[in-house]
Amino acid sequence: MEHVLSPTETKQFNDQGYFVIPNFISSDVCNLLMDRTRKLIDDFNPGEIKTIFSTKDQRHAKQLYFLESGDKIRFFFEDGAFDAQGGLKYDKFHSINKIGHALHRLDPVYHCFTHSHKIAQLSKDLNIEKPRIVQSMYICKQPYIGGEVTCHQDATYLFVKDKPVIGFWFALEDATLENGCLWAIPGGHHTPLKSRLHRDSNNQTSVEIYDDSAWPLEKMIPLEVSKGTLIVLHGHLPHMSKENISSRSRHAYTVHVFSGMHEYDKTNWLQNSDGKPFSGFI
Ligand code: FE2
Repeated sequence: MEHVLSPTETKQFNDQGYFVIPNFISSDVCNLLMDRTRKLIDDFNPGEIKTIFSTKDQRHAKQLYFLESGDKIRFFFEDGAFDAQGGLKYDKFHSINKIGHALHRLDPVYHCFTHSHKIAQLSKDLNIEKPRIVQSMYICKQPYIGGEVTCHQDATYLFVKDKPVIGFWFALEDATLENGCLWAIPGGHHTPLKSRLHRDSNNQTSVEIYDDSAWPLEKMIPLEVSKGTLIVLHGHLPHMSKENISSRSRHAYTVHVFSGMHEYDKTNWLQNSDGKPFSGFI
């Protein structure tokens, strides 16, 4: 397959830590992925999970539900989804914050999309040798209650020695200032990693802090993009998104890839429970 990245885009990635490619995927493919998610949520029975998310003293169960999701398809609610009695304020579909973290392994539609030639070529063009797909997420950013994601570097959560993880962020709907688009600090990926999240054998997590200075949020710029756009993010790039209080959702699908030539840290929260290496492109 021919290159999907131009030399300009590769240079921008190296200089700025991100780049944006409009129309990377067609509107039809965006609709197909959104329809698939609608079906997954329709088939999802919240049952006990709803209790875990709606009750404050269920912190441990909530954390375990998250930690065990690396090789599963699990559904996470928006914090603002529940009323004082623990009931959902909106319908089930409009209460889900995200779905993760193995859609690309377990769901046939997401498997097919994530392993497409175009994404494999993208990884090649980014010089990711022996690419491995570590996680996939569907992020809903629902109308009115879509939560804020504070400034962070993805490598805090998915640490790979010497060659940071790279994130692919696909806008399935327009992402604007109103519905909570991504924000990033251009060139901020030159900042060394400021913290790392570790998980121990007892499923306890801890944050190791290397630099506790505040992020220069005044340097953040909004990345407003249209449906079908791909944003590629360096694992050290500081980025965030604000809450969505608009009436429009902001659906996105994300995939994180690292080079199998480099060591994926054993204390990262996300591990394959079967101990097998992460799969690459076919
Ligand atoms: Fe992120």
